[in-house]
Amino acid sequence: MKSIVVANWKMHPATFKEAKQIFEATRKAAEKGKGVSVIVAPPSIFLREIVKLYKGRRVAFAMQDAHPEAVGAFTGEVSVAEGKDAKAAYVIVAHAERRAMGETNDSARLKVAATLNNKMTPILCIGETHRDATGEHFNIIKEQLRIALTDIPAAKVAQVVIAYEPVWAIGATRAMEPRDMHEMAIFIRKSVVETHGKDGMNMKILYGGSIDETNAAGMLRDGDVAGFLVGRASIEPEKFALLIHSLSEA
Ligand code: PGA
Repeated sequence: MKSIVVANWKMHPATFKEAKQIFEATRKAAEKGKGVSVIVAPPSIFLREIVKLYKGRRVAFAMQDAHPEAVGAFTGEVSVAEGKDAKAAYVIVAHAERRAMGETNDSARLKVAATLNNKMTPILCIGETHRDATGEHFNIIKEQLRIALTDIPAAKVAQVVIAYEPVWAIGATRAMEPRDMHEMAIFIRKSVVETHGKDGMNMKILYGGSIDETNAAGMLRDGDVAGFLVGRASIEPEKFALLIHSLSEA
């Protein structure tokens, strides 16, 4: 099965000139990376122009966030519908950095539904900020899933991609261990089965948090994941090429 790599550029780079350079390197890596589907999530102001530059079929595009209403008096926001018009096929919903800025499970719920209603694919980010011996993080994950998926009928739930990103591993020095990810993947499927029935078993789950060329292949092999949400390594062309290469061989 093809693995998925979402290149989450976050608020990088500062100029469109640099964005074109990063995209060119990303495109080359994606074209060489047999067996890897690359999804690029640039800052929304660059999205349409980058899409226009690209003629191939190996790269798809995502919004990093989007407002669920198609239009309206929401200064500063960009809607799911506007992203669709710019040819994004995916929307990252409730990334940990958006949650830190006030995104709630309830707003994630509206965004997941709006994305599916626009015939796009939501990448729903979940993850606990810390772990302790009580195992409370499992309850947090279950609640994040339950609320964000409330409006999604059972027949559609497997169209939602889940990105599990433990906040303590984002922008950190180490990723989570594959065996812990494997445990979490089982828990995520089980939680969705409880709310949405057996299609929960088919959820595509990505891992995010300090993924690079040194740890991605091991995580893909042992972590029970379909791919990755990648921050820092996605804007460093050499690292990104090595990352894609490591997965192409896996
Ligand atoms: P990182 O970010 O790869 O830089 O840790 C991951 C993310 O925030 O999606």
